[in-house]
Amino acid sequence: MNEHAGEPPMINAFDVAKLGTLPEATQALIRRRQRVMGASYRLFYESPVHLERAEGVWLFAPDGTRYLDCYNNVPCVGHCHPRVVAAVRAQVGRLNTHTRYLTDIVVDYAERLVATFPPPLSQVMLTCTGSEAIDLALRIARFRTGAVGVIVTENAYHGVTAAAAEASPSLGAGVPLGLHVRTVRAPDSYRDDPATMGEDFAARVRAAIADLRRHGAAPAALLFDTVFSSDGLSTHPPGFILPAVAAIHEAGGLFIADEVQPGFARTGSAMWGFQRHGAEPDLVVLGKPMGNGIPIAGVVGRPDLFDDFATRTRYFNTFGGNPVSCAAALAVLDVLRDEALMRNAASVGAYLRAGLCDLARRFEQIGDVRGDGLFIALEFVTDRRSQTPNAALASRVVNAMRRRHVLISASGLHGNTLKIRPPLPFGIPHAELVIEALAASLEES
Ligand SMILES: Cc1ncc(COP(=O)(O)O)c(C=O)c1O
Repeated sequence: MNEHAGEPPMINAFDVAKLGTLPEATQALIRRRQRVMGASYRLFYESPVHLERAEGVWLFAPDGTRYLDCYNNVPCVGHCHPRVVAAVRAQVGRLNTHTRYLTDIVVDYAERLVATFPPPLSQVMLTCTGSEAIDLALRIARFRTGAVGVIVTENAYHGVTAAAAEASPSLGAGVPLGLHVRTVRAPDSYRDDPATMGEDFAARVRAAIADLRRHGAAPAALLFDTVFSSDGLSTHPPGFILPAVAAIHEAGGLFIADEVQPGFARTGSAMWGFQRHGAEPDLVVLGKPMGNGIPIAGVVGRPDLFDDFATRTRYFNTFGGNPVSCAAALAVLDVLRDEALMRNAASVGAYLRAGLCDLARRFEQIGDVRGDGLFIALEFVTDRRSQTPNAALASRVVNAMRRRHVLISASGLHGNTLKIRPPLPFGIPHAELVIEALAASLEES
């Protein structure tokens, strides 16, 4: 963690005070970057990683050093997948305009995308980023309900626009929450009683609704990431989100499922995180993996909600849903299907979790291994009885893994949970590399 006075904390941030410890060439590039891009641009790791190209699950430095990517969910079908590259190349040489003209590829993509959702989620509005999609979903929810209140989890991250940032408590005290935003503790698959965690989560949502009402605001939406990734990842037991969804519906608000992290088959058990729980969102926000690195995001929802919004507002997004982004996104859907990547996420994820559970038998500081498919969390504690978070160990292990050329990071309210979230073509040999590197990193930490 970067705990410089005055700097908002970011898990696994490079500490600029240690610039002098890096090789000369790295120092020079960091200085140039700081000079021209300013202080907002932070880097990962005690020793930042310099990259030049990528392929599949591998990232390469300019000197040829190869890193195993166990962290990036954007290149979900693998870095620089040839079918995505070919689709983008072909489309960018053919046509790229906004959505006020008729183009086949945009409609083809929208149809293919909504076909992956259960009815009545049958329409999509396309944006460039997840933040814009969050912003749009909040506007639609507020239009429909005539209410302003939004309930999010305690360490949620939903994006960078003003509306998304004011509903993103993980950004820290320097980014104030909206007046009508309430936070609730996220479910915790490690510490909560599985028999009651769903009802307990719903009780916290009801308390937040009551608090909003006390301040004269009705709830427009309950918004959460359906795997609670920035809260530390909670995926089990399936179904635990249902009572909270019922609570917001009873109060007249909408449930917005943020699928930016779990979406597009990552959890191995379903295309979308909400499906693992059998939940029925009103609106679903998509992003990151959608275009395998080409900017495209969107909101999927019920036609009545979109109609409501369209009759009262004018909405246009210059780059949202452009043909080149749609070509990339269409190729992503093709590759997910043709390479059976959901099945791969399930089987390789299970193998990796089993290996990590074996490590937990050797290392007492591993409190919990959890997740689904290729979204895996490993939580460090000082001791298993107290379950006290051990963020210092997580930070040491993340950096020890980086020295072994295996890239992961940490997450959660306390930053003590390793986040392992590789591109979906991850194989058993890659999982074995992770387990070996983690065993060696734990030995030395
Ligand atoms: C859960 C979640 N929602 C929304 C966003 C915002 O997406 P973007 O960075 O594309 O604006 C992110 C980005 O990290 C995210 O993790």
